[in-house]
Amino acid sequence: MNGAVPAACDVRAVPTPVPLLEATGITKRFGRHTALDAVDLRIEQGRTVSIVGESGSGKSTLARVLIGLERADAGTVHFQGEPVRGRRTRQRFRRSVGMVFQDPYESIDPRLTIGEVVAEPLRAHGLYGDGGRERVRDLLDSVGMEGVDQDAYPHRFSGGQRQRVCIARALATDPGLVVCDEPTSALDVSVQAQILNLLLDLQRRRGLAYLFITHDLDVVRRISDEVSVLLRGTVVEHGSAEQITRDPRHDYTRRLLDAVPAASPRERRIGAAPRP
Ligand SMILES: Nc1ncnc2c1ncn2[C@@H]1O[C@H](COP(=O)(O)OP(=O)(O)OP(=O)(O)O)[C@@H](O)[C@H]1O
Ligand SMILES: [Mg+2]
Repeated sequence: MNGAVPAACDVRAVPTPVPLLEATGITKRFGRHTALDAVDLRIEQGRTVSIVGESGSGKSTLARVLIGLERADAGTVHFQGEPVRGRRTRQRFRRSVGMVFQDPYESIDPRLTIGEVVAEPLRAHGLYGDGGRERVRDLLDSVGMEGVDQDAYPHRFSGGQRQRVCIARALATDPGLVVCDEPTSALDVSVQAQILNLLLDLQRRRGLAYLFITHDLDVVRRISDEVSVLLRGTVVEHGSAEQITRDPRHDYTRRLLDAVPAASPRERRIGAAPRP
C-alpha cells in the first residue's frame, strides 16, 4: 500500500547518500593567526554550496586547502566516501576537482597558447596522449569558444573569454566538483551574467557540484542550494540559500546582508560598507 511502512523495515538497510565531498574540522594557521578553525563542509553531487563572508574571513584559504594547494593543520576530507590521504588518493582527488580563480589574467600563463592552458591538467595527469588536441577542442567548444583558434595566445582575448578558457581548463579531467573563487568579480558587469549562465549550463549538462565563493548576493541567490557563512575562520551559519538570504539567524549574516544596497554590482558586494 502506498505510504505504508513494512513491519520488517530495517532503516539501517536504507543507504544514506554519500556526499561528494565532506570536510570535517578543517583548521589552518598562518603563524599565530588561525585562518580556519574547525570548519565542516558537505557538498552533494550536482549541488552548489556558496561560501560568503567578509574579506579575510578565510574563504580562499578554505578553497585552497580543500583542493590541496595548501596543507591543513588539522581536519579530514572525504571524497565520494573515501578519505583523501596518501599519494594515490590525493592524485585521484585532484583529477576529480577543478578550480576557477578570480582573475583570469593572473591565472593564465601568457606564454602558453589557450590550447596549452586547457591541456595543462590533461598533461599533468598523463591524459593528453593522441586525442588531446581534439579533447581541448571539445572543451573550448563546450565553454562557448567554438571556432576559436587553440593555437592563439591569451593576449588576444578579453577577460570574459579568458575566464571561459579557465573554465575549460577546470573541466579538462572531467571533474565532479569545481571550486570557483569569485569567478565573476574581476569581470565587466555585462560579462558576469554570461559567465554565470555558462557555469549554470555546464552544471546542468555535466551534473557538476560547485563550491562557490562570492561576495555578490544576487549570485548567491541565483546559483546556490546551500550557503555557509564564514566569520574569522569559523562557520557561524549554514542553511539553504532561501533561508540564509530571507531569514538569517546570525547577527553577522544579518549585517552582511544589511551592508548590501542593491544599487550596483560593486555596491552589492557582501561586506561592503553601507552607503551613507
Ligand atoms: N599565505 C598566507 N600567509 C599568511 N597569512 C595568510 C595567507 N593566506 C591568507 N592569510 C590570512 O588568512 C586570512 C584569510 O585569508 P583569505 O584570503 O582566505 O580570506 P578571504 O575570505 O578569501 O578574503 P577576500 O574576500 O579578501 O578574498 C587573512 O587574515 C589573511 O591575511
Ligand atoms: Mg579570497
